[in-house]
Amino acid sequence: MYPTHRPRRLRRSPMMRELTRETQLRAKDFIYPLFVQETSSRPEPLAAMPGQMRHTLGSLVQEAEKAAEVGVKALLLFGIPAQKDELGSGAFHPEGVVQRALRAIKDKKLPLLLVTDVCMCEYTSHGHCGAVCQGDVDNDESLNLLIKTALSQAQAGADIVAPSDMMDGRVGVIRQALDEAGFSQVAILSYAAKYASAFYGPFREAAGSAPQFGDRQSYQMDPANLREALKEVLADIEEGADMVMVKPALAYLDVIRAVKEITRVPVAAYNVSGEYAMIEFAAKAGALDRERAIREVLCSIKRAGADLILTYHALEAAHWFR
Ligand code: PBG
Repeated sequence: MYPTHRPRRLRRSPMMRELTRETQLRAKDFIYPLFVQETSSRPEPLAAMPGQMRHTLGSLVQEAEKAAEVGVKALLLFGIPAQKDELGSGAFHPEGVVQRALRAIKDKKLPLLLVTDVCMCEYTSHGHCGAVCQGDVDNDESLNLLIKTALSQAQAGADIVAPSDMMDGRVGVIRQALDEAGFSQVAILSYAAKYASAFYGPFREAAGSAPQFGDRQSYQMDPANLREALKEVLADIEEGADMVMVKPALAYLDVIRAVKEITRVPVAAYNVSGEYAMIEFAAKAGALDRERAIREVLCSIKRAGADLILTYHALEAAHWFR
């Protein structure tokens, strides 16, 4: 009686493989990040992220319509303001680029949830994610700016605010401020375990948000740390995060799995700009089959435990997994 096990039986045909497949991706799994620039009169393609744009308000709304059509349920908006300043005031201006984008998309009444990135780095002249005091990113000063930003985004129609700054205590103070202002129904998706990663390179070029001095290692996490990620996640949930995120995704699949195991809230993972660029440039060079690589990467992130995947491939992927 040899062999007892013949695992190949279940791999024999497409139908058999589909019947026994353990991980299914669906259009609603994807959140689509988009850049909107205040000054541009036409969409600008991003050199380091082939296929992605800095949108105008008009082209952003069109992209939102396309996303809704293929079954994407949520967009994540990043704004690039006309002017940056020391405090990043463009992040919380009532007529700021993200605030206007929120209203423009909401006007269309599309079946889409709008998520906003709550962070200062796209808006500050120094490119850091909070307030700089004496050459250092001051945690508690930054909280005031983040609160203002989240409130102003909620006022403009954000359904979910996503703090990505990595200041201590920001989820709690944002939750409290939202509740006091009558936005108790606005959810918080916390970038809870966000690492100081090389894979944000293309994003920083897109948003012009590279730090002008130093780096982000005093607030973003050390890539070597897993225990600390769990601590961050639990703290954010205690402070009121409705959902938590691990970022980046691919180099941190073990973190996604571990977070999934200790939490009872939806877990998101951000397949970041550098991970997107790796596939796009490798495919352009003929080194791999682009579609298969994208499917495999997205599947791996879901298999690791992510309920939601933030990905620049969302539009295409939603179309495949509709
Ligand atoms: C803002 C922010 C960043 C990303 C998302 N929100 C950049 C950073 O932390 O430097 C990166 C997203 C990506 O690389 O796709 N702080």
